[in-house]
Amino acid sequence: MIARSLLFLPLLFMAICGSKASTSFQNPVIFNDLADIDLFRVKDTFYYSASSMHFSPGAPILQSQDLVNWKYLGHSVPSLEFNSPAYNLEDGMRAYARGVWASAMRFRQSNNLWYWVGCVDFNATYIYTSSAVTGPWEQKTVLDGTCLYDCGLLIDDDDAMYVTHGSTVLSVTELTSDGLDLGETQIIYNSTVGYVEGSRMYKRNGSYYIITVQPTNGQYILKSDNGPWGPYDFGVILNNTSPPTSLKGGDTPHQGALVDTLDGQWYYMAFVDVNGDSTGRVPVLSSLNWDENGWPVLTLDDGNTWPQSLPYPVGSGATTGNSDSSLQGKDTFATGKLDSQWEWNHNPDMKRVTVTPGEVRLSTATVSKLDDIYQARNTLTHRTLGPASEAIILLDYGNMADGDRAGLALLRDSSAWIGIRKDGDVSKLVMRNDMTMNSTDNWSTITYGTDEASILVHQTGKKRNIYLRVVGDFSASGTREAQFSYSTDGTHFAALGQNFTMANDWQFFQAYRFAIFNYATKALGGSVGLKEFSLYSVPV
Ligand SMILES: *[C@@H]1O[C@H](CO)[C@@H](O)[C@H](O)[C@H]1NC(C)=O
Ligand SMILES: *[C@@H]1O[C@H](CO)[C@@H](O)[C@H](O)[C@H]1NC(C)=O
Ligand SMILES: *[C@@H]1O[C@H](CO)[C@@H](O)[C@H](O)[C@H]1NC(C)=O
Ligand SMILES: *[C@@H]1O[C@H](CO)[C@@H](O)[C@H](O)[C@H]1NC(C)=O
Ligand SMILES: *[C@@H]1O[C@H](CO)[C@@H](O)[C@H](O)[C@H]1NC(C)=O
Ligand SMILES: *[C@@H]1O[C@H](CO)[C@@H](O)[C@H](O)[C@H]1NC(C)=O
Ligand SMILES: *[C@@H]1O[C@H](CO)[C@@H](O)[C@H](O)[C@H]1NC(C)=O
Repeated sequence: MIARSLLFLPLLFMAICGSKASTSFQNPVIFNDLADIDLFRVKDTFYYSASSMHFSPGAPILQSQDLVNWKYLGHSVPSLEFNSPAYNLEDGMRAYARGVWASAMRFRQSNNLWYWVGCVDFNATYIYTSSAVTGPWEQKTVLDGTCLYDCGLLIDDDDAMYVTHGSTVLSVTELTSDGLDLGETQIIYNSTVGYVEGSRMYKRNGSYYIITVQPTNGQYILKSDNGPWGPYDFGVILNNTSPPTSLKGGDTPHQGALVDTLDGQWYYMAFVDVNGDSTGRVPVLSSLNWDENGWPVLTLDDGNTWPQSLPYPVGSGATTGNSDSSLQGKDTFATGKLDSQWEWNHNPDMKRVTVTPGEVRLSTATVSKLDDIYQARNTLTHRTLGPASEAIILLDYGNMADGDRAGLALLRDSSAWIGIRKDGDVSKLVMRNDMTMNSTDNWSTITYGTDEASILVHQTGKKRNIYLRVVGDFSASGTREAQFSYSTDGTHFAALGQNFTMANDWQFFQAYRFAIFNYATKALGGSVGLKEFSLYSVPV
């Protein structure tokens, strides 16, 4: 806690002096992988829901008072209970790039419930609700056999609930009055501009609007002045728009959401796919006005470019970016629980995790005879912070068992790690790379990794602490290189192995994550203690 409050000292200083306070914000508003943005306001507070695919808990929720400074608040999907053991990494099965994507979240005033709706695996739609945004969220309905694909949720003034969904052929489906079952459904748009998806539905000044995406260079809008069933007219919000200058190399901002402020100003927040996902899909914000005929006009710079900087939407911007400890800082697990920025790779086996103030104790949960990190349960992940950042963990490896592997990975479909491998009585600190999965074969493992560099470590006694560090340049215009290093005192780090070049194919749909893992290759029984996790941005 002390370390965390220290982080705020410079900001406090800036606020008191007033000299550095800015009235403008910079894009991206959060340099984290948070795709398929849904966004809405309840009174003076904004909420952001995003995709998380195979990470658990799923559907992260962030909260903000000004649309610029955000913090992780919770998850709508506490566990990926989607009718498949693959979500538990059981029976040799895996669910990479499945799970939670393009879902919708809203608050319903009339019954004081928060709703989350999402199609999973193309064959079922799940609805979760909670009476508090922070949970507990419950799975209320499985609409088996129905995929409300890429859905958007509107709760109308008269409390009717509408879901817009589909690709190219877009539909509106009314939900039953409890919001938990399907009512009337109608096709409202057969696209004449090509493939579209990722729709959201709004009402403003009596008109209904559906925004929809042509991946990845068009963001369109449909408008009906005759109720939710249409007919809808077609308009364009963005067409081949360049991303803000800070995200050079990214594509047109898309698949976002509209929101208004308490004083009636409108904003559009969309994501930019930076270099095919090695950084991830990060949110950018711009303001939006409405013309006399009720069509939106987005604020863009000359030359069809998304603005790099704009005045703060709400307030004067006492801080100049995201300062919340859920985004960067040192986590010592002081509260004795994992905060909302943490997600596991697939559903964890919580019988083998103990979180106490000051330590996350990870007992091995999987025996992988193939030494396959992709099949290992209980890998704890944290989003990387762009454009460049470093993560450091303090790991107690004194209780590892023969055959165990534990450390800090950069995890994606092509991964590398630094950590300890214990074989017999010999413990080695290794930098291991070349762990890859096959995107066209349900993410089966192609290569299990090679120890690129290793040094013997002496393991006498039960308590053995080591600092492991990854520094990565995740920016689209950067090197996509990461360096792995270690330290015994937390100050002097020595590199181990060559730099690792991160992959940037889009098929995985999730960016690299810092991942703390501990798995067995022989037998369960060992454990490691994660004492600290620090994450800071570093100069590109
Ligand atoms: C949907 O498909 C997935 C993958 O094929 C399967 O594992 C799951 O059981 C199916 N879900 C339902 C509700 O039928
Ligand atoms: C879309 O096409 C379907 C099938 O051809 C047709 O039944 C429907 O009326 C059309 N809807 C609209 C809104 O164009
Ligand atoms: C609302 O729509 C009406 C026309 O239906 C128009 O006269 C009025 O200016 C609109 N109000 C706003 C705030 O756009
Ligand atoms: C987008 O712009 C291109 C030209 O750059 C044009 O050909 C296309 O018709 C536009 N798309 C829409 C939907 O207006
Ligand atoms: C990936 O899977 C595809 C389809 O099963 C297969 O044709 C291909 O050889 C695999 N690639 C590698 C590198 O194993
Ligand atoms: C991948 O999994 C899907 C759904 O379970 C199955 O239909 C498909 O055949 C699998 N593909 C391969 C290459 O194994
Ligand atoms: C290795 O990667 C780090 C982090 O991105 C970078 O600072 C460093 O310059 C790279 N080293 C080499 C030799 O490329």
